[in-house]
Amino acid sequence: MCGITGYIGGDKTTEVLLDGLRRLEYRGYDSCGIAVVDGKNSLYLKRVSGRVDALDKLVSAEPVKGAKAGVGHTRWATHGAPSEDNAHPHTDCSGEVVVVHNGIIENYLELKEKLLAGGHKFKSETDTEVIAHLLEEKLKSLHVQAAAMRSDMLEPVFFEAFRRTVADLKGSFALAVVWARCPAMILAARLHSPLVVGLGQGENYVASDVSAFLKYTKRVVFLNDGEMAAVRRDGVDYYNFAGKKISRDSVVIQWDSTMAEKGGYKHFMLKEIHEQAEAVENTLRGRLLPLGGPALEQEMGLTTAAMKAFSAVQFVACGTAYHACLVGRVLFENFGVHASADWASEFTDRARLLDKGTLVVAISQSGETADTLFAVREAKAAGAKVLAITNTVGSTLTREADHVLYTHCGPEIGVASTKAFLGQLAALYLLAGHFAAARGSLGKTDARRYAEELLKVPRLIEEILAQEKEIARVAQAFSHSEHFLFISRHVNYPIALEGALKIKEISYVHAEGYAAGEMKHGPIAIIYKGMPVLAVATSGRALELTAGNVEEAKARGADVVAIVDQDSKKTVKASRYVVLPRTEELFTPMLTVIPLQIFAYYVALAKKCDIDKPRNLAKSVTVR
Ligand code: AGP
Repeated sequence: MCGITGYIGGDKTTEVLLDGLRRLEYRGYDSCGIAVVDGKNSLYLKRVSGRVDALDKLVSAEPVKGAKAGVGHTRWATHGAPSEDNAHPHTDCSGEVVVVHNGIIENYLELKEKLLAGGHKFKSETDTEVIAHLLEEKLKSLHVQAAAMRSDMLEPVFFEAFRRTVADLKGSFALAVVWARCPAMILAARLHSPLVVGLGQGENYVASDVSAFLKYTKRVVFLNDGEMAAVRRDGVDYYNFAGKKISRDSVVIQWDSTMAEKGGYKHFMLKEIHEQAEAVENTLRGRLLPLGGPALEQEMGLTTAAMKAFSAVQFVACGTAYHACLVGRVLFENFGVHASADWASEFTDRARLLDKGTLVVAISQSGETADTLFAVREAKAAGAKVLAITNTVGSTLTREADHVLYTHCGPEIGVASTKAFLGQLAALYLLAGHFAAARGSLGKTDARRYAEELLKVPRLIEEILAQEKEIARVAQAFSHSEHFLFISRHVNYPIALEGALKIKEISYVHAEGYAAGEMKHGPIAIIYKGMPVLAVATSGRALELTAGNVEEAKARGADVVAIVDQDSKKTVKASRYVVLPRTEELFTPMLTVIPLQIFAYYVALAKKCDIDKPRNLAKSVTVR
């Protein structure tokens, strides 16, 4: 997830752009840049690999003269490591067209090949740069005799070239572009990535979210998917992707700028819980079909032959990422692949026993967790191949692993991991599906069904998020509890562990996740009257046994909240229920964790804890 800002209004252009970028830094902060047009057919471009303060110094050292309009961008890398070359804005060969982008252009490789064949020279590894060259190509194809035409005559040509460019793009994008020869207009387009227009007096704005310009105006138009905007100083026109003019009413935002950074949510954690459908969608996008096909080979360099050759998979990670490993283990075992999972801090002594045919999969949102990095080094020293699953492009882990599979969740600000966990799960389902199809343990029909089930998950997540208020009420009933127990079995046992970790992290109370079948071997003794027990008991092979464990807990006085689906609810006798939409048992972890995250959030809220920055914790633990 990156931050886009754009302004058209004259002299204060750089000040407004830099201010907007500062407010958008939470969306991405590995590099940033601005581009400004001055009405004399030239473009001012400054970019840094680093934070906005560094960019501000660069701009102050060489200020812009006669600014008319401009765009800015803070980047959370998805393609290409953080560097000045990969920082936005990106330009075309002429250096007159410039683009900022948030999202993922799925067909960028195909477009890039055509543009390279047409003689275009690229300076970055990003998917975004393709857009600038494509726009340049469209301008050429419209036989623009730019030198002979006044800039106001160029506006319709600029618009049509932009419209044709957008028509060629697949994937998700929020775009803003400027052209040095047409300084009186910023063009913007939105598809599956938010973009909003801010309406001022004699000046106008465009951004990924309102926080970029809220201090200047609260009157906004949220673009819908499939819409474009031509933003001028004296007004904004709106169009659909076919180029047909449409009318859009503005609304007045009630948020202050702090709330705006959190998208109107009280905490980043809650905002990120609500971004999980998008995190799964973005992580799966363009990589799923056909399973066993070239998608992952192109991206990770993991060939089908290699996937067949591995005899086992060893997962290593810490914290929430370790819980993702435990789900990954069940997925691979489900497809007949030997799999094990260890906390990275407990794995290092075992690394020397690694079998050459074992693929080590290291999962880390930050890609900087010291325990995980140490485990990876030990595994490599033992001769194993390492695949990293991470959310952070260019992180240390990506440089030390042999293969990398990125999650596309955007920066996760809340210390308690939520959307990054869902992204890790989505990546594991992707990986397990490709492995299974490559090894023949998932035939064509089953592979199609597996992919279709996965593609339904984002919508099912949204259905669960719509129950937020009901789940909050259940949580508030337990906000005074000092002990919590989470139980489940098989593919949802890791979810019981994750639910317990969430409560511990942000509410500072004792919570334990346990295999439901293990309760009778001792832990059941801790149950006291009224103790909250959260049982994940969705339909599947383990349902009857788990329902029995719920009975045992209730018989000892526990107050049981059961996470069920419509069918399993009939079997489980609990005090309270959260009813989830139905999916196949194997995919339930991506759904069952959602109510537990919301439950933990509202318990912590009731306890007035510092939810985004819990005491004693760091977002990335870079010490062993
Ligand atoms: C997650 O809620 C925790 N904050 C923590 O356990 C985290 O998952 C762990 O430190 C691993 O971090 P990583 O994914 O960046 O490696």
